[in-house]
Amino acid sequence: MNTLIQDCINNKSSETPIWLMRQAGRYLPEFRSIRKKNQDFIKLCLNTKLSSEITIQPIERFGFDAAIIFSDILLVPYALGQQVNFKKNFGPDLRKIDLKILNNVKKEDFLHKLDPVYKTVKEIKKKLSNSNKDTIGFVGAPWTLLLYMLNRKSPKGGNFRVFPKDKYVNNILMKLDEFLKIHIEAQIESGASIIQIFDSWAGLLPEKDLEYFVYKPIKSLIDFIRKKKTISICFPRNINNYKKFVDNVKPDIISIDYNVDPSIIRDTIDIPVQGGLDPKILLQNKEIVRNEVTKYLKTFDKKRYIFNLGHGVLPETNPDMVRHLVDEVRSFNGQ
Ligand code: CP3
Repeated sequence: MNTLIQDCINNKSSETPIWLMRQAGRYLPEFRSIRKKNQDFIKLCLNTKLSSEITIQPIERFGFDAAIIFSDILLVPYALGQQVNFKKNFGPDLRKIDLKILNNVKKEDFLHKLDPVYKTVKEIKKKLSNSNKDTIGFVGAPWTLLLYMLNRKSPKGGNFRVFPKDKYVNNILMKLDEFLKIHIEAQIESGASIIQIFDSWAGLLPEKDLEYFVYKPIKSLIDFIRKKKTISICFPRNINNYKKFVDNVKPDIISIDYNVDPSIIRDTIDIPVQGGLDPKILLQNKEIVRNEVTKYLKTFDKKRYIFNLGHGVLPETNPDMVRHLVDEVRSFNGQ
């Protein structure tokens, strides 16, 4: 069976599919109740039974057209031997990288550490097998991972420094290229029908550094995903020039943030587009949500557009507003 997203990007359906980044997360009481009993976030991601349950929660509640695996981009640094903790009211907290460890990680050990994630992908694929919904696997882009690995915490609020393009940085980027491909391949073999690449911090870089840190490393992953005959989505958050990104990297689908004008995207980019709506809009009233949703849907006019947000669902979002959002998109489909 074709999925709705496949039909949409191949122009075989005028229905707009919808799923949301961070659709499984703290805004859902059913997630919070599991999270409360599981304080160690990495362990939770590596618990196949619970991560499968969490992945399916928003599908059961809202009927989204795709399930994104409940996991995290920082599981890759973790499986590469760097200690990662998620601290309450702080976010990720990483220990210093040890190059000796990083350069000696074996493929089998990496795959063994992340095996529960691949089992979750298999579970979800099985659950969705009789539906037209996609199973989305994902990785962090090399730049965003490098940033967390070297900065050892979120670069939020300018809390980071620019790295030289030296041997040390190149060593880490090469290792990331190698192991991200291993992680992508294992997710595809387990049943992921789409791979999304999150480059959440691409917008921090000056134009002159994009080729080295963003275009080249992501292109390498995209070419790999294409060889595996799997759909790729890229989310280079907050970059200034999406057209240049698409021309250089050539993903199947481009996911946009909320700072870019969607009509400029429509007029300059000719691959399928995803996302855009500011997640803060979901904290407003229903009328504002309707107006903003309509703006995106009218701009793309049912043409190869996947509804999503311009970043993840905020924890303070009322699930009723997500229900309203889904209903608005579905009722537009019927028009
Ligand atoms: O989208 C989904 O529903 C699937 C699961 C998913 C998570 N993280 C779960 C998560 C995905 C795809 C991610 C990606 C991710 N993780 C990114 C890229 C997207 C983005 O948000 O920019 C990044 C940068 C991370 C790293 C990360 N993970 C940070 C900075 C934090 C702390 C900040 C925060 O939002 O809490 C996390 C934790 C995290 N990852 C949570 C969830 C549901 C919250 C954990 C909690 O319950 O405390």
